Amino acid sequence: MTHRALEVRESLEERCNRILRNMEASLTARDRVGIQDFVLLDAYTSESAFLDNLRKRFNENLIYTYIGTLLVSVNPYKDLDNYSKKQMDTYMGINFFELPPHIFALADNVFRTMLSEYNNHFILISGESGAGKTEASKKILQFYAVSCPSTRLLNNVRDRLLLSNPVLEAFGNAKTLKNDNSSRFGKYMDIQFDHRGGAVGGHILSYLLEKSRVVHQNHGERNFHIFYQLVEGGEEDLLRWLGLERNCKNYRYLVQGDCAKVSSINDKSDWKTVRKALSVIDFSEMDMEHLFGIIASVLHLGNLKFEADARGYAAIKNNQEMHWVSKLLGIPNQVLQQGLTHRKIEAKTEEVLSPLSVEHAVYARDALAKATYGRTFNWLVNKINESLANQDPYRKTVIGLLDIYGFEVFSVNSFEQFCINYCNEKLQQLFIQLTLKSEQEEYELEGIEWEPVPYFNNKIICDLVEEKFRGIISLLDEECLRPGEATDLTFLEKMEEKMGGHPHFVTHKLANKSTRKTLERGDFRLLHYAGEVTYCVVGFLDKNNDLLYRSGKEVMQQSKNAIIRHCFPFSEPDSKKRPETVVTQFKNSLAGLTEILMSKEPWYVRCIKPNEAKQPAIFDDVLVRHQVKYLGLMEHLRVRRAGFAYRRKYEIFLQRYKALCPDTWPNWKGTPAEGVRCLIKHLGYKTDEYKLGRTKIFIRHPKTLFATEDAFQVCKNQLATRIQAKYKGWRVKEDYLKQKEAATKIENCWRSLMARKERERRAWAVKVIKKFIKGFMTRSQPACNDNSEYLAYVRQNYLTRLKENLPKTVLEMDSWLTPPPILKEVSQLLQNIYIRSLVRQYVREISPQRKAQLLLKAQTSSMFKGKKENYPFSVSRPFVDTRIALEDINLKVLQIIQHEHIKYSVPVVKYDRNGFRPHLRQLIFTQEAAYLVEETKIKQRIDYTSLKGVSVSNLSDNFLILHVTCEDIKQKGDLVLQCDYLYEALTKLSIIADKQSSIKVVQGSVRFDIQPGREGFVDFKSGQESMVYRAKNGHLMVESSKAKSR
Ligand SMILES: Nc1ncnc2c1ncn2[C@@H]1O[C@H](COP(=O)(O)OP(=O)(O)O)[C@@H](O)[C@H]1O
Ligand SMILES: [Mg+2]
Repeated sequence: MTHRALEVRESLEERCNRILRNMEASLTARDRVGIQDFVLLDAYTSESAFLDNLRKRFNENLIYTYIGTLLVSVNPYKDLDNYSKKQMDTYMGINFFELPPHIFALADNVFRTMLSEYNNHFILISGESGAGKTEASKKILQFYAVSCPSTRLLNNVRDRLLLSNPVLEAFGNAKTLKNDNSSRFGKYMDIQFDHRGGAVGGHILSYLLEKSRVVHQNHGERNFHIFYQLVEGGEEDLLRWLGLERNCKNYRYLVQGDCAKVSSINDKSDWKTVRKALSVIDFSEMDMEHLFGIIASVLHLGNLKFEADARGYAAIKNNQEMHWVSKLLGIPNQVLQQGLTHRKIEAKTEEVLSPLSVEHAVYARDALAKATYGRTFNWLVNKINESLANQDPYRKTVIGLLDIYGFEVFSVNSFEQFCINYCNEKLQQLFIQLTLKSEQEEYELEGIEWEPVPYFNNKIICDLVEEKFRGIISLLDEECLRPGEATDLTFLEKMEEKMGGHPHFVTHKLANKSTRKTLERGDFRLLHYAGEVTYCVVGFLDKNNDLLYRSGKEVMQQSKNAIIRHCFPFSEPDSKKRPETVVTQFKNSLAGLTEILMSKEPWYVRCIKPNEAKQPAIFDDVLVRHQVKYLGLMEHLRVRRAGFAYRRKYEIFLQRYKALCPDTWPNWKGTPAEGVRCLIKHLGYKTDEYKLGRTKIFIRHPKTLFATEDAFQVCKNQLATRIQAKYKGWRVKEDYLKQKEAATKIENCWRSLMARKERERRAWAVKVIKKFIKGFMTRSQPACNDNSEYLAYVRQNYLTRLKENLPKTVLEMDSWLTPPPILKEVSQLLQNIYIRSLVRQYVREISPQRKAQLLLKAQTSSMFKGKKENYPFSVSRPFVDTRIALEDINLKVLQIIQHEHIKYSVPVVKYDRNGFRPHLRQLIFTQEAAYLVEETKIKQRIDYTSLKGVSVSNLSDNFLILHVTCEDIKQKGDLVLQCDYLYEALTKLSIIADKQSSIKVVQGSVRFDIQPGREGFVDFKSGQESMVYRAKNGHLMVESSKAKSR
């Protein structure tokens, strides 16, 4: 098991334990304080049992009880300390029936259903005035604000959602006899959630503010809170600026109920809350200035007094108040005065100003005050909506909260109560439609066995009020619009005429004797679903007309106050075309509301008022029983008991739980109904636990569903892990495929690029080769276009090759590259230059010694080259300074000849002139003469001057014959010598003795003087072998082999 799965299991275990603990706790609690879900009530048809249960719980401060998913709430009239953050956390994400009933449980359930089913919901909070609707709606809002996922941005929205409440309450709530904080307007608020459940925005629709309260309050009631808050809490500077005094009693509009101060209301601290809230919901200082200006100006208006002037027309008595109104609304005093005391009348083509009587002026003043306040209230709602608006375009789901004024019965009931109670009739109708009726209809439609539950349908009352042409509203409008003298009483008569005999309508005239006693003449009574209400007809027409004289409107249009200008736009249709009456507007807006609600999933909170005294711990049985009755709670319970706790369309049920059965997961191939059948079989549902309808499954007990839901939660986690793994795998594979594709693409591109390059290269090569061939073919023609490049190539090629293959020495000139025909001449020139450069280089590198040697060699060359056969072999043998070292010459000899400077010595073989015997001798050249030395003896000295010449043969032998001038017989004759270093010795001699030209190369034989007058011969010839011998003819025969001889 994976770590994650373990975690899930652990937390599930923990959760189970906690649930068990809670369930135990609530079970014991149930024993003690009744039953927490009326569905579990044994005597579920007994009203007394129902009431007993409510009372028991109420006495233990357990104000919430369920009827299935409907929440019944009894107003405790005291702080219960069970709305803390901790409580919210406890109820968050818990199945509805796991914990004791609570408004938070309902809120959480709605929220979670919305998230999982992704649809819109609304919570209808109903109950009569003071039953705790507004408190309940605030608790729900707080729950969402605190427990929904939040971010900094969302916190901003959250603050605004929360703070819109005190502002709207300040301007729209008032103390009534029923409730110290009674909502005098209807409020429907959408809370918008993003897909993660973050509250991201809101929108408020308001319904029919009870404007008449601005100018009149019944005894024991107050005007709207804001007036008292401003006067009591307003800062000194502000009050001064508004011209107000800190005393509510000074303002006529605030004192009619004679209860400006109430202990349960702290106007001062409420003022602070409102001011702070206004700034959070984007009201600028300017907005607030204008807003309070209006509130104050209404108070000043209320204090305006009129007196009759001489002609009996109204004139304003207290100019001071006038001044303030004019200042605060930014309307010139004159204009305002005229607007309040005159009325515009259209007389054919022109408009005439007609002065008003005092009575009319008072009416006009009050009308203006009401209109100003009412329109400002609408402006306020719009402004709040702007601040709550969510701009992001993603789809949102909403939870709507409907907190509307509850059913109201006072001792005197007027037009307002008529509207309010009509509204409650409509909501009851909606409730009936959505639950009781739809429930029964649904069972029938689904073909589920069903025991019909009788219930009271209030449609008959709704029709009585709103039916076209026949209903009370139609009659009222008719009277209002009718020309002639229509009055409230004519309206009453009309009703009596049309409604006579209707079981829910009665008047003094229509009533029987006993009832008549309870009815005044100007009264009519409606038997509402929630009870009888007697309405006093006085003021109905007037309030329905809600006339504001045109002059009054026109005056307001000149205001410098931005809010007023916004509320009284010039574009308003003028009075010629009658605006819709108040009641018709209200009827239409309720129809709109019904439409809004019908498109959403309903949830209900039914609020019950335990006593009329607004006191804690008092449970007025009669009062409560009455409410239980008219709220239809018993019927609802019966329907619930007969029915099933849960139903869902097969598709939806299957979609949600299909993961719980291997056959339905991941996809079911058959119909959804079959799928659900298969699924519940797998889950082991017992036959009495469910019913299968035509399109829906019905589950009788919540616990069956909870078990399924819990299993699903566990499975979901496992699935999530699997899906995650699959997804990860898929993503990696996807990445891999993408990379592979990319690699192939790149490869292809690269290959095509290479192929293109190759093709270009080949095309180029073909061109080059063609050109080359053409060039080759025309290479011997004169340079032309065709061959110029080829020739250049040949040239370059030859030259580069030549450069790389140059002979290293002059001697290797044979290896000089054979030039192409066109470069023959150039090659020759280059060769010459190269040789010269080699030579120059060679010469440069040569040392003086070597130079001397070479000079010697050159000398030798000039003497023998091409003349003597073995000369070439001598070339490579270097010359040395001497062949006999000084120490090898006998000292005696040295002593004799040293002064002549010995230049060169070489061993020779001397052949006797007679007999030609060979002897080894040393031949020494000094500066002066050549010496032939035998050991210690100088055998012969030949002064160079007496050296006539030297002969050598042209063959390969090494013989030399030194011819001497021989004038004296005693003198020795020519010398016949053989010297291994013939060329060296002769060259040295030619230099030392300057005898170059005396050295002769001869052919055949050489004659020589043995002694003066006696001659001998040396014959030379080539032979097989080298040998020297005396020939028969007495000549010395020197034979030398052609081959290399020494
Ligand atoms: N849950 C509650 N806990 C404590 N007091 C409550 C609760 N609900 C209502 N009240 C008291 O009842 C008064 C009237 O409730 P409210 O919600 O204004 O009635 P409604 O809106 O139904 O006319 C509140 O001002 C408050 O004092
Ligand atoms: Mg309220």
